[in-house]
Amino acid sequence: MEELGIRIGKGAEADLYRREDKVSKVRISKAYREPLLDQHLRRTRTRREARLLSLARRAGVATPYVTDVDNQTFTVEMSFVPGEQVRRLLPSLTREERRELCIRIGEAVGKLHSANIVHGDLTTANMILHRKRIYFIDFGLGGISDAVEDKGVDLLVFKKVLHSTHYRYEEECWEGFVEGYSNTYRNSAETLERLRVIAKRGRYFPERA
Ligand SMILES: Nc1ncnc2c1ncn2[C@@H]1O[C@H](COP(=O)(O)OP(=O)(O)OP(=O)(O)O)[C@@H](O)[C@H]1O
Ligand SMILES: [Mg+2]
Repeated sequence: MEELGIRIGKGAEADLYRREDKVSKVRISKAYREPLLDQHLRRTRTRREARLLSLARRAGVATPYVTDVDNQTFTVEMSFVPGEQVRRLLPSLTREERRELCIRIGEAVGKLHSANIVHGDLTTANMILHRKRIYFIDFGLGGISDAVEDKGVDLLVFKKVLHSTHYRYEEECWEGFVEGYSNTYRNSAETLERLRVIAKRGRYFPERA
């Protein structure tokens, strides 16, 4: 694996390596999964991630460039995005800056949903601010869907992250997010209403293997 570069991260499902201006995301095997299912999931998520990164950019949302996809090693190679993870950045901002950033996040998610792109893991760890643009990464659990339900689940994941990780300024962030989302996505009212219904149902997350 040396040719992949220096390991910069280890997620639940993938190892990340950086070499110069490239990042390789390698989906690793999970011992608890039945081997054929394991391969199937790694392959699907690798492909999906590469495809959605490109589709999202076409929809006007900043993403890393995909430079290679290897379905045998379950690897997506993409450009390295320097900058600051939104999760780490949020606490250091002023109230106004934070609101502004969340409006911009809402606008980006509005663009994704307008293009029927569901991210699947809308957390602040999956957003990087670089040169005043918010880059979205980690689309492996995403998909193409016009279902209100899927978009509502996307919103709920984000809302829950604000509640758990950014609870001190949860409200101002959520308000900003909703403002940006509503200004960008035509069916925002319907999706926000569904979010409330899903939250009440208590079915917070889609199934994950
Ligand atoms: N193209 C990139 N440029 C810069 N940093 C990146 C890039 N891709 C990933 N990272 C960093 O590595 C971390 C983990 O990457 P990513 O979110 O894609 O994997 P993960 O959360 O382990 O994935 P999964 O949820 O699919 O298992 C990110 O939070 C980010 O800090
Ligand atoms: Mg991630």
